[in-house]
Amino acid sequence: MKLPFPVARPEPDDLADGQRLFAPETGFLKGVVALAGLPPADRPEICFAGRSNVGKSSLINALTGHKALARASNTPGRTQEINYFTQGDGLYLVDLPGYGFAKAPVAVVEKWQTLLRAYLVGRQTLRRAFVLIDHRHGIKSVDREILSMLDAAAVTFQVVLTKADKVGEPARAAVLEQVRETLNAHVAAFPEIIVTSSEKGEGIADLRAVIAGLCRT
Ligand code: GTP
Ligand code: MG
Repeated sequence: MKLPFPVARPEPDDLADGQRLFAPETGFLKGVVALAGLPPADRPEICFAGRSNVGKSSLINALTGHKALARASNTPGRTQEINYFTQGDGLYLVDLPGYGFAKAPVAVVEKWQTLLRAYLVGRQTLRRAFVLIDHRHGIKSVDREILSMLDAAAVTFQVVLTKADKVGEPARAAVLEQVRETLNAHVAAFPEIIVTSSEKGEGIADLRAVIAGLCRT
């Protein structure tokens, strides 16, 4: 069976819940470099994964209404730690290190993959992984690796397309088609896509609504 993977269109009630969830302050809790450093698993959490420079930190800033909470940089590979943010007192937002940074030494990449896999498999309070994909480029081979890792870890993931402001209408449709085609091969893919621009605000309220839905269950 082929799934259509529509773009998420949350109901007004969900949008209001999303707005409420993100009204309280967001705080930076800590950067984690080893499993032992993870905070107690005492509340739901969601994580953001994606290749270096895809816009993870920018998306967290946009979601939480901050300009520079999660540092957004022009230097790929800057976010080297698993960064924990508190949203109010009921949710953790987790900014994962970017993958696919060609200049990183093999040993560093392997260390991160091991940590990432252990985190994904073992974190019981992880409600969903949001995998960010650049809307200009679609899903690349470096992304497929993490999608397969999520399948294997049985962590439901949802694709968030980023930088939509940089893509015109015909290209959007073509890339969406490629993304849908690829997601059909992944058992852990949540069957809706979110299209965002941290720059222009597109889709940010929708993503907040989806996250609010995850906190309810
Ligand atoms: P790492 O932490 O290195 O893995 O990168 P990241 O995924 O956190 O990316 P980051 O948020 O630092 O953004 C990378 C670059 O993309 C920055 O120059 C951002 O300004 C730019 N960027 C991020 N989101 C958007 C967007 O929605 N639109 C546009 N036009 N640029 C964006
Ligand atoms: Mg970052």
